[in-house]
Amino acid sequence: MTRNAVQWTSPPQLPADHYIDSQVYTSQEIFDEEREKIFARTWKFICHESELPNPGDFRSVEHVGIPLVVVRGPDGTVRTFVNACSHRGAKLVNEPRGNTKHFTCFFHLWSYDTGGRCIEITREEGYKQCGLTKDDCGLRKVRTEIKLGMVFINMDDQAEDFDTHVGNAMDDLLEPMGTQPMEVFHFHRVLMHANWKQWHETNMELYHEWGHVVNRTTSVAVPGYHDRKWKIHPSGHGSLEPLKVQYSNYKGWDQRENLTLPGLSPGEFRVVDLFPNTTVIVRATTIRIDTSIPIAPGITLLEQRGLGVKGESAQDRAHRQHHHNQFWGPFGRNLAEDVIFVEAVERANRHGGARFGIIARHEELKSQDDEIMRAYYRTWGRYMEREASNPLGAREGQAVPVARRA
Ligand code: FES
Ligand SMILES: [Fe+2]
Repeated sequence: MTRNAVQWTSPPQLPADHYIDSQVYTSQEIFDEEREKIFARTWKFICHESELPNPGDFRSVEHVGIPLVVVRGPDGTVRTFVNACSHRGAKLVNEPRGNTKHFTCFFHLWSYDTGGRCIEITREEGYKQCGLTKDDCGLRKVRTEIKLGMVFINMDDQAEDFDTHVGNAMDDLLEPMGTQPMEVFHFHRVLMHANWKQWHETNMELYHEWGHVVNRTTSVAVPGYHDRKWKIHPSGHGSLEPLKVQYSNYKGWDQRENLTLPGLSPGEFRVVDLFPNTTVIVRATTIRIDTSIPIAPGITLLEQRGLGVKGESAQDRAHRQHHHNQFWGPFGRNLAEDVIFVEAVERANRHGGARFGIIARHEELKSQDDEIMRAYYRTWGRYMEREASNPLGAREGQAVPVARRA
């Protein structure tokens, strides 16, 4: 096999699913197509149901560029609607969150109840002649499913049902998230200069954990760290065998074994990666949910939620928040380090300086096997009808410019 003398002046001579062309992160064409072929067709985590605890609670969000409103109806059901008035299409709900009995459009005052029915048409008699009634004018419903308190939506009425899509991928979360009511106690957003897939990769590629102070201290030296195996699920999801780590090795760590979540032993760590861009990390006493909103090929809005037990004492909550924020809060160690990692990759990719990324490790599915990323990109390729190693078309035998010309 001929080797490249310098970094990837031609594609790596590896099997096609063992490397990624950085244009999957930088191309506007691919970014636009991901919105249409992936995000408009797959199940996307949108919020946790504890963010809508009471009837009438709503959150306005945006997905694939479309404004949506997620609302808990008087019957307790959480529903999602396209946030657009049926009259002339104005954005209906403009507050980020709140509680209401009905939504009234500010433009000409048509109103809707929280079940999406149109309940008021201004000067309705004017529509008698054409036969238009309130019954014709409900809000457009978006498919919504809740599993373990996580609210997922799908814009595509023809897409596979949620249970088929998720399969057994969330099984490791059943006990810690499903035994007692959980609630979001922490929410923050990070705008980063990186492609949305690069963040998801940080939650699948675990050899970068050596770069985290916390992980070096608590995890990488514990027995079994390298042996836990990935379970690769259909539809691009992955879950990692649990590991018991030594959080008490971290300076200032306040061990609270009584706060260990159901189904876990003290110090236990679990990860579930859901295609296309949601990760749930369970760490002994607290849970983190990552999801992202792609803004542009090299710009991503990351949302991070921290979960604890609903109804716990203020003292327990304070300890749990401390456990969460020490590692994962905006000023915790891990988040800032991961942002530095992914932005470094984006910085080199942006104009073609780094053209290929290697995902070629084989370790019999052990934690640092790249098969988890290969499986992810095979799923990405099925949706996109493109290969991540050659996403913009054939270039067999062609030299690859180190820098892309504008
Ligand atoms: S656009 Fe909403 S009432 Fe006219
Ligand atoms: Fe990380």
